[in-house]
Amino acid sequence: MEEERGLTRIGVSLPSNLLNKFDGIIGGRGYSSRSEGIRDAIRAYIVEYEWMERETGEEIGTITYLYDHSQRGLGDKLTDVQHHFLDMIRTSSHIHLNEQDCFELVVMKGEGKKIKELAESIMSLRGVKHVKLTTTHGGYR
Ligand code: NI
Repeated sequence: MEEERGLTRIGVSLPSNLLNKFDGIIGGRGYSSRSEGIRDAIRAYIVEYEWMERETGEEIGTITYLYDHSQRGLGDKLTDVQHHFLDMIRTSSHIHLNEQDCFELVVMKGEGKKIKELAESIMSLRGVKHVKLTTTHGGYR
């Protein structure tokens, strides 16, 4: 790490297809540099995380994600997570998207903190991509 003018330089290893896509997006959005795009992406990640941290009380939540079903053991791990939280899960759907990818939707009802815990358990599994969590309060308050 090397510091200059309050900035810290870090080295990050990324798959080249991920970096190519990122470069394409920040180019199209007029960022002056890749670093600026990465700083914005990290800020958005932090905002999203802090929003999730604030969720409390009874909620309805949905989580959707893609995963590669050929990734060894991943399908079993996703099933284990869902069984661990089975009292909260109201429905789930599985769509076989193409040869490789599966899409899943899980609808949950319960304490916001538990919904967040379930979402984080899924997000943290290697091979799970494009995770989206939404929550709503319905008529509870
Ligand atoms: Ni599938």
